[in-house]
Amino acid sequence: MKIFTTANELRQYLVQLKASGAAINLVPTMGALHQGHLSLIQEAQRRGGAVICSIFVNPKQFNDPKDLELYPRPILDDIKKLEQINCDILFNPAVSELYADNESWHLNIGELEGMLEGKFRPGHYQGVTHVVHKLFDLIKPDTAFFGQKDYQQFMVISHMVAEMNFPVNLVMCPIQREPDGLAMSSRNIHLTPDDRQHALILSKTLHWVKQNFNPNNIQRLKHDAEKAIRDEPGVELAYFEIADGDTLHSADNNTKKIVALVAAKVGKTRLIDNVLIG
Ligand code: PAF
Repeated sequence: MKIFTTANELRQYLVQLKASGAAINLVPTMGALHQGHLSLIQEAQRRGGAVICSIFVNPKQFNDPKDLELYPRPILDDIKKLEQINCDILFNPAVSELYADNESWHLNIGELEGMLEGKFRPGHYQGVTHVVHKLFDLIKPDTAFFGQKDYQQFMVISHMVAEMNFPVNLVMCPIQREPDGLAMSSRNIHLTPDDRQHALILSKTLHWVKQNFNPNNIQRLKHDAEKAIRDEPGVELAYFEIADGDTLHSADNNTKKIVALVAAKVGKTRLIDNVLIG
């Protein structure tokens, strides 16, 4: 695997690669790689061409400095994992390589900015779009892969791509789960054994809503789901929403594409999860 830490070296290498006709697939990550990330890389590999994984803990998307400080950064392990699955290129820049001092950024992402995750993490999607824009601009990928776990993030990035006419195809890959249902996340390592058990209420409740879904009973389902999560010890619910999968507005009995989304603090760790219904 080729490893680049500077934008210039990566750019030069990509000129040759693109000249050889290879399609460029990008999997942007913040590292602490787990099977969820690796499944994105494997999907990219299945489609052919070269696969670039970026690992960059993006300070601009953290609204809590403590969260940024605690974010896991096991780079040597990550490199091993990428080598084991034959990833072609790793881009692992320092913060100063991607951002100049006092750089400003604002993208109009409409109402998505203040909904669900956006409401609880002000500025988060500005930070995400800032870095993804930089990566797209530098790498100019043909296709970029993101996980369904960050469902709203995928919508925000799709919005940016449409708004800015980026010639990139976006692919959303399914959530990878532990055998007991917990959605894989780099943050799961912060869960204590007790938290880990309590965290299962999130995937269980999403699964229950999917199994019991009835378009005429959405309010009742949402109410019961919220109650189940609130009743779980050690879990502090931020939101549970049964929403239109295209707009994230609350779903009603005419909504065709439905997604149930949840965010909660389990112990000290904030987790998100979702499930597509129908
Ligand atoms: O999903 C993530 O890991 C991050 O938000 C992303 C897309 C790599 C941007 O930093």
